[in-house]
Amino acid sequence: MLVTIEGIDGSGKSTLLNGLLEELKDLNPVFTREPGATWIGEQVRRGIKERINPVAEALLFVADHAAHLDTVVRPALNADKLVISDRYTDSRYAYQSETLKGHIQDPKKWLLDIHNGWTIVPDITFLLVVPVEDSLGRIKRERTESEHFECKNVLENVQQNYLELAEKDPRRFVIIDAKKDRDEILHFVAGIIRKNNL
Ligand code: TYD
Repeated sequence: MLVTIEGIDGSGKSTLLNGLLEELKDLNPVFTREPGATWIGEQVRRGIKERINPVAEALLFVADHAAHLDTVVRPALNADKLVISDRYTDSRYAYQSETLKGHIQDPKKWLLDIHNGWTIVPDITFLLVVPVEDSLGRIKRERTESEHFECKNVLENVQQNYLELAEKDPRRFVIIDAKKDRDEILHFVAGIIRKNNL
């Protein structure tokens, strides 16, 4: 089973993932992430930092995804393992729809087309939703360096894109109010994963 965790920067994904690591130990899940599960992820990070052309940046994220599927996701699913990915294709749909505005005519369609036919759609996607002010506050407290995605307007639109994706695919998405207590969120999410992993 493939589970993905999504949300804007500073939405509490890392806290939830750290909790799941402990909480779901007995299920032996494969924890993975995008970008960064392959060496291409390092190039993605370099691309983000140097602010390369948005189309090039988007294609690097897609390349990272393709390699991630081959090296981690598909082998684990074939071995009947539970895979939990910190970010996945919906990150592209949400973030690159924003960064590609003005560079590509219809970014949403382009992004769907480029993944079509080879990506693996997750079984469940948990979307952490938080007011952008809170997420920015959290980013400022936790990091010294910030990425170009991490500004108010961009994150507002990214979160809106996420919510639209969830609305279109309510069977896959579980929306989480990330302002709730961290243990409450953890137990809720872990419970759903366990129930579906039977
Ligand atoms: P990451 O370092 O994993 O940040 P976080 O800890 O917030 O998850 O990801 C780096 C940034 O890349 C993050 O701001 C989200 C963005 N991103 C995209 O724009 N597109 C993508 O497809 C992915 C996977 C991430």
